[in-house]
Order: sequence, then structure tokens, then C-alpha cells
Amino acid sequence: MRNLTIIAGILLAVPVICFGGIYLMTEANLRDVKRGPAFDHPIPTDEVSIEHGRHIARTRGCFGCHGQQLEGKDFDEQWDWPERAVAPNLAAYARDHDTATIEAAIRQGIGASGKALVSMPSYNFTRLTDEDTAALIAFLKSAPVVEKKLPKPKLGWPVRWTFVTGEETHMVQWVAAVPPLRVNADAEPQRAHGEYLAMTMCNECHGLDVRGFSMWKPPLPDLAMVGSISRDDFETLIKTGVGVGGRELGLMGLVAPDRFPELTDDEVAALYAYLSSLADEAPAENVFWRPAQ
Ligand code: HEC
Ligand code: HEC
Repeated sequence: MRNLTIIAGILLAVPVICFGGIYLMTEANLRDVKRGPAFDHPIPTDEVSIEHGRHIARTRGCFGCHGQQLEGKDFDEQWDWPERAVAPNLAAYARDHDTATIEAAIRQGIGASGKALVSMPSYNFTRLTDEDTAALIAFLKSAPVVEKKLPKPKLGWPVRWTFVTGEETHMVQWVAAVPPLRVNADAEPQRAHGEYLAMTMCNECHGLDVRGFSMWKPPLPDLAMVGSISRDDFETLIKTGVGVGGRELGLMGLVAPDRFPELTDDEVAALYAYLSSLADEAPAENVFWRPAQ
């Protein structure tokens, strides 16, 4: 009888120790991050800057993921990773947190809890200038709060395990991998502007350097392909999500009409100039978002 109790005790203890260990190791991994210097750029209060901040939020997809009224969104039905992703109510968040905390979430991939984020694509926003970040925060702080009940997010056990093995990378690691901007703005202002836009709008999906992304199925195209389509076809494609010759697209067909219809002529021209110039350069090989074949 006593032996049976001991065996039962061991059988029960093993999973508790395993899951407890996985839990602690994931938490340690996500907490092993450090915020950079606190963002202390002044937050503007004038209408022009706030409207510019709204344009940044619209063209960077904040509305698509955090709700059209920034009320927050449960991704349970759309994504099966990392079990249950929940984008918080951004207007409420911006009221409740200081500027440095908001900036750390947007550009550094570190949440208010001090842990690395996992689903929020901060790598797409890390190259935003201080001015644009300040305008974005000004807009978020000015947005009316629309209440919505949201469930608690969940990090599933299989996903925790991939963080423990190092197979999965958290947002601070993604942010660190984003290549620097390279085009000299004094010598080539339009191409530099285009690079800035591409590296804060398109690299969420087209690879951290916009030269293709093979971690998702199917892989996403290298945006150097823009050089093979006309300026008009490019504009139609990014503003409507309809491909060249009326071809129906998938995710791009959903994202483009939500984010890009309000791009200005200058922004479209800058994007076109930069992306079509990439055809002359070989993309970097063996980067983690595009491993060597
Ligand atoms: C692809 C969807 C997606 C996009 C685009 C997106 N977010 Fe998020 N965001 C999320 C999710 C999901 C979370 C919840 C945290 C997590 O799972 O990483 C989040 C969390 C946040 C947080 C809170 C972080 C914390 O826990 O303290 C802030 C602030 C935030 N996002 C701001 C923004 C802003 C500003 C934009 C636009 C520039 C934006 N997000 C675009 C999905 C997104
Ligand atoms: C949220 C993800 C996402 C973002 C952000 C995104 N794209 Fe795409 N894009 C896709 C996907 C996925 C495809 C492949 C076709 C499809 O499935 O829709 C694609 C395809 C394309 C294509 C090829 C279309 C064709 O005819 O095959 C071009 C060009 C393109 N995107 C340009 C851009 C530009 C420029 C930006 C930034 C301004 C951008 N995309 C931002 C997801 C995205």
C-alpha cells in the first residue's frame, strides 16, 4: 500500500515538475530583456501632429490588429499561435501607461510587464523615427476609449516548449535582427524615404529586409519584384490589394485595403523608387527569416 502511494506520488510529481520547469524557463527567457533608454521625446499636442500620428497608425496596421476603434481584438479564431493572442485596447492602454512604456512596446518589443512580447510585430516599427513615434503616441493618447470585454491571452504549452528549445524567437530578438537603414538621405532623399516606409510598413510580412520571407507558408515574395511592374499597377496593388491584371491575392488582398489607400502620392512614389531599385542587389543569404536553401 505504502509503495503504491509512493509510486502514485512520483507519477504525479513528474508532470508537475516538467510543466513547472517549462513554465519557469519560458518566463525566464521572456524576462531576460532590458529596456533601452527611456523615450523622452516631447509628445506633441497640436492637431497636425495628432493627424500625422493617426496616419502612422493607419498605414502601420494598428487598427487592423487592435480594432478599428482601437478597442482591442481577440485573435482566437484567426491565429492558432501562440494559443490565444489578444491585442489590448490601445486607447485605454495609452491613457494608463507612460510614454516610455508605450514606446518600449511599439519599438522595442517589451510589454508593460517587463516581458518580451510574442505576437505584437514591434520589428516592423522599430525603425520609426522619434518624431513619428511621438506623433503616434500623441494620437493614441487622444483617441476616445471604446470599452470592449477581452479574454485573457494564453501562451500554450507547445509554444512555451519552442521558446525553451530556442526554436522560437521572442519579439526583442526579432527587433534586434532588423537591418539598419542604409540609403543616404542627403544624397538620395526619395529612395531614403521609400526605404524608411518599406522598413516600417512592409517588413512585417515580406522579410525583415523586405527581400522575402520563407518562415510562413507559402513564402512571401521579395519586394524587388516591384521593379517588374509599372508604377500604376504598383499603386493599384497596394491601394486595393488587387494584383497585376486583376489577379486575386490572399493576405495582401485583406491588408492592403485596410492600411494603404491613404498613402500620399509622395509615399507611393518613394516606395516605388526604393523597391524597384532593389533588383540590382542580391538579397542577404542565410538570415533566420530566409534560411539558405
Ligand atoms: C499583427 C497584429 C498587430 C499589429 C499590426 C499591431 N499590434 Fe500591437 N499587439 C498585438 C498583439 C497580439 C498584442 C498583445 C501582446 C502580444 O501578444 O505580443 C499587442 C500589444 C500591443 C501593446 C501592449 C504591449 C504590452 O503588453 O504592454 C501596444 C502598446 C501595442 N500593441 C501597440 C501597437 C501599435 C501602436 C501598433 C501600430 C503601430 C500595433 N500595436 C500594431 C498585435 C498587433
Ligand atoms: C500583413 C502582411 C503583409 C504586409 C504588411 C504587406 N504585404 Fe505584400 N503581400 C503579402 C502576402 C501574403 C503576399 C502574397 C500574396 C497573397 O497571399 O496575398 C503579398 C504580395 C505582395 C506583392 C506581390 C503581388 C503579386 O502580384 O504577386 C507585392 C508587390 C506586395 N505584396 C507589396 C507590398 C508592399 C509594397 C507592402 C508595404 C507597403 C506590403 N506588400 C505589405 C502580405 C503582406
